[in-house]
Amino acid sequence: MEYNDLIRTRESIRDYDPERPVSSDTLEKILEAGRIAPSACNYQPWEFLVIHSPEMLEKVRACYHRQWFKDAPHLLVVLGLKDKAWVRSYDRYNSIETDLAIVMTHLILAAENEGVGTCWIEAYDPAILAKALGLKENQVVFGITPLGYPREGFVKKGNKIRKKLEEIVRYL
Ligand SMILES: Cc1cc2nc3c(=O)[nH]c(=O)nc-3n(C[C@H](O)[C@H](O)[C@H](O)COP(=O)(O)O)c2cc1C
Repeated sequence: MEYNDLIRTRESIRDYDPERPVSSDTLEKILEAGRIAPSACNYQPWEFLVIHSPEMLEKVRACYHRQWFKDAPHLLVVLGLKDKAWVRSYDRYNSIETDLAIVMTHLILAAENEGVGTCWIEAYDPAILAKALGLKENQVVFGITPLGYPREGFVKKGNKIRKKLEEIVRYL
């Protein structure tokens, strides 16, 4: 899809067809888009977990109580490795959040390009998720999204409710 169409048509999807898994080819295209994302100093401080086995799905689904989240055939968890991210020498600012926001955006837009729905979730219970995934101390979840096709008959809203440019841009 052309980039301008892609960013305009992408919406958070909250209605998934549980019976329609995403093929491994398509999953790989999405993950590849994450792999090539830029990061500070090119440190790539991330790992992608594709949750797709019934046992892991059951455990991870417990972290967020929305039926549409539980309906998605796959969940993608994006982990940040804080100790692997670039740190600015002047003030010890750690670039992990910036790097991870970029990689999530790459993944989500690539999914949209494949017709696969996503919804970036942050309102999950981190303790349940950390336990389900057996996370180590340096691994931090930065985002989790369902990956799946919208249910048949699902219609996108098609309107982006956003602030106007005049409200957010200043030419100095
Ligand atoms: C960092 C981040 C966290 C979000 N967390 C949630 C969430 O926990 N649950 C949810 O339903 N949507 C969540 N969203 C989706 C936003 O509500 C959505 O992106 C926003 O309303 C704009 O709508 P759109 O994605 O359809 O354009 C999140 C989005 C972002 C970028």
